[in-house]
Amino acid sequence: ETETILVDSNVNKEETYSQAVEMLQTGEVVAFPTETVYGLGADATNAEAVAKIFAAKGRPADNPLIVHVDSKESALNYVQNVGPKAIQCMETFWPGALTLILQTKPGVFAENVTASLSTVGIRVPNHPVALNLLKRVKLPIAAPSANTSGKPSPTLAEHVYHDMEGTIPLILDGGATMIGIESTVLDMTSEPPVILRPGKITKKDLEAVIGTVRLSSEIQGNIPKSPGMKYIHYAPEAPVYLIEKTDGLIEKAIAHVQNDGKKVAILSSEKHPSADYCFPLSAETLYASLRKCDQTDADLILAAISADANRSEAMMNRLEKAADHKWFS
Ligand code: TXA
Ligand code: MG
Repeated sequence: ETETILVDSNVNKEETYSQAVEMLQTGEVVAFPTETVYGLGADATNAEAVAKIFAAKGRPADNPLIVHVDSKESALNYVQNVGPKAIQCMETFWPGALTLILQTKPGVFAENVTASLSTVGIRVPNHPVALNLLKRVKLPIAAPSANTSGKPSPTLAEHVYHDMEGTIPLILDGGATMIGIESTVLDMTSEPPVILRPGKITKKDLEAVIGTVRLSSEIQGNIPKSPGMKYIHYAPEAPVYLIEKTDGLIEKAIAHVQNDGKKVAILSSEKHPSADYCFPLSAETLYASLRKCDQTDADLILAAISADANRSEAMMNRLEKAADHKWFS
């Protein structure tokens, strides 16, 4: 049985947090909202608890988890060789959507958290429910996104329920997450630091604070250092194609697909009445829209991309993965 408790409007919040804290302290898995996406949390010092996360998600064991703590001070209990740039990042961006890869102190986390690496991804989430939980539980909490491995990350408690029903005991429902895309992952063990996964906090934001930062996608012949980046991600059931938002192209594509007797779903910031289904497209709505496609009988999904210089790079990164870099032609 999976229980979902609405923490936003819950009259007995004390009882709910105590229940969640007790579950985490006794090695259970609890899903909770962060400002990016929902996380599937467990005690990062307890290998059995962490193993339950991998089992619930169907996650490959070589893909390490992000550890969540309540403050910079807590983080410093678990990591070592923390340079001045990392400290500046913590002070500027925490609580917030920035995961820092740092060297772990030996033996502080269960080995399956870090997939036996000597480094760990760590962050302080900026969400009242997550922070409340972390402050009370007094443990580092390992929490990947709370989706089945390969599926879009959950931005609503009902997405978590859909993927985890019957597998985990408790979901704290804090409503829709604010950012909708996972945190920026910044590797502080390289010089200059390297962005392993783009997010809401951009290269420009980081460079304003710590100077030069590189994007892993720009490094030639780069072997993915973030183990998670090599796996298929964010993929709905039907194939996704990117399509340019140029005059008439989308209408032509819709007609073409429908002529083959197929149904098409469009992800776009604009309406397309001729499509069988149309869902909004922005960083905040991307994952929810991909999940809505799964509830239709669409045979193909077209994501409308503008050449806009202001478009979200993090959203483009996730969309390109969902589409496996395929453009409609
Ligand atoms: O916004 C987020 O980061 C969400 C919320 C719940 O906090 N969490 C999240 O976790 O997205 P997850 O496990 O789905 O993604 C973690 C990413 C993966 O790409 C993983 O490979 C990378 O971080 N990662 C974790 N530890 C690492 C390490 N030591 N070195 C390099 N990459 C690491
Ligand atoms: Mg994930």
